[in-house]
Amino acid sequence: MKTVPARAARPIPVKNRNLVTVRNLRRYFPIREGALQRVVGHVRAVDGVSFDVRRGETVGVVGESGCGKTTLGRCINGLLPPTDGGVYFDLGDDEHARLDALTAMPSEARTREQAAELERLDRTHRVDRLRGEAWRSYRRNCQVVFQDAFSSLNPRQLVKDIVGRPLKVYREASGSELMERVVGLLESVGLGRQHLYRYPHQFSGGQRQRISIARALALDPDFIVLDEPTSALDVSVQAQILNLLNDLQRERGLTYLFISHDLGVVRHMSDRIVVMYVGEIVEAGTRDDVFNSPLHPYTEALLEASPELAHDTDRRAGALEGRVPDPARPPQGCRFHTRCPVVTPSCGFEVDDAVRMLEGRGAGLDHLRGVQRRSAFEADLSFDDEEFAGLMVRVLEGPETPAEMREAMIGLTRSGSTVAIRFRDIDRVRLEEIRPAHVTSCILHTGQGLDPGDRHMREKNGG
Ligand SMILES: Nc1ncnc2c1ncn2[C@@H]1O[C@H](COP(=O)(O)OP(=O)(O)OP(=O)(O)O)[C@@H](O)[C@H]1O
Ligand code: SF4
Ligand SMILES: [Mg+2]
Repeated sequence: MKTVPARAARPIPVKNRNLVTVRNLRRYFPIREGALQRVVGHVRAVDGVSFDVRRGETVGVVGESGCGKTTLGRCINGLLPPTDGGVYFDLGDDEHARLDALTAMPSEARTREQAAELERLDRTHRVDRLRGEAWRSYRRNCQVVFQDAFSSLNPRQLVKDIVGRPLKVYREASGSELMERVVGLLESVGLGRQHLYRYPHQFSGGQRQRISIARALALDPDFIVLDEPTSALDVSVQAQILNLLNDLQRERGLTYLFISHDLGVVRHMSDRIVVMYVGEIVEAGTRDDVFNSPLHPYTEALLEASPELAHDTDRRAGALEGRVPDPARPPQGCRFHTRCPVVTPSCGFEVDDAVRMLEGRGAGLDHLRGVQRRSAFEADLSFDDEEFAGLMVRVLEGPETPAEMREAMIGLTRSGSTVAIRFRDIDRVRLEEIRPAHVTSCILHTGQGLDPGDRHMREKNGG
């Protein structure tokens, strides 16, 4: 997105500014196998995410494909119930503070009054607990626009019916009033009365997205989840739709969650940015902080991979290499440690990393008979015979194995044809505020579990 300059930040209204409050949100999908469809694991699509969206602002969510952006958007929109945690809508400032205080305590430490207070907040504000009129009101207030306008518009319906449907369902208007409201909505997105009696296939991609936006605006919502709304469009059309969204936001005081893998677009649209990696937030802050002074090596690598943004900062990290890990078996410690160009021995090396590294290096893995794990960090690897077990130890001790991995290994012994391997036990990394309102989970900045011996790396990386 080179064609549109970044817009100026808007002042955020101070009253009741917490429109959406996401707390410890998890959404897991079961993996089923076999004739009985037994659950054999879970895809951790969203895995403990917390952030706020304030009234009138745009929060951009970025990350590679599969990191959980759409799942997050669907949980916020109420289309998917969370596995744990929750999404709260329109909390007052006091309620927001109370929610944080109450959810910070272990449930068994809450008094009866505190438990009742949290239950009241859940019943009145937590999206998956809303019922009756409160639920209908939320669904009116929170709309969604998807990437693929064609599949989200009914091909057998005329535009007048597509855009008018929410007004009919919510009994907002009928007859000629309904038609005039639909015309007004079409005009607000740059279409008009002449488009009422056409089908979706009679429009261009950009026009179809305008129809989706008109439909989303029909019930005059406060909040819209925009999930890759321009990713399927040509660059010039993209710019028109983004400008339209910005104009509508200004005119109607809308709040957006803007999901995209395109950093240029996110920079153009967002006041604040949330960077996701394998179901977690790794960095969040204002647009300028995240783009001009990124803290997390993943953010840096994303920026590096986005050539039109590369001039913005003096980048330290290399380009983004390697595959995104499987969210059904996310890496220990920092989930980015399998790809991080500045990884340290304290970042979460585990048995799977050693096995992956040895694959294809002629280290006798073809002769590996079994891996008996005691934990993610500790296992016995049994080989066909002693020779292959010995070869494995030599490779793991030698220069072929990255120095950080060797340093993270606190046990490596062979007994006959079995190799016992053990890495340092590392906790899951936590987000911490490094600068005002700028958080990251990278231990080079938070210092979490960082071994004193790794300090030189911290200094080297300017943390
Ligand atoms: N209904 C589902 N059942 C099982 N797994 C799912 C389901 N929906 C999503 N997932 C998995 O959850 C993970 C996150 O998916 P999601 O669609 O949220 O990612 P995304 O960041 O939106 O990706 P993209 O940029 O490709 O749209 C992926 O591994 C995906 O395969
Ligand atoms: S904690 Fe920081 S240095 Fe370690 S792997 Fe993660 S991003 Fe890289
Ligand atoms: Mg998606």
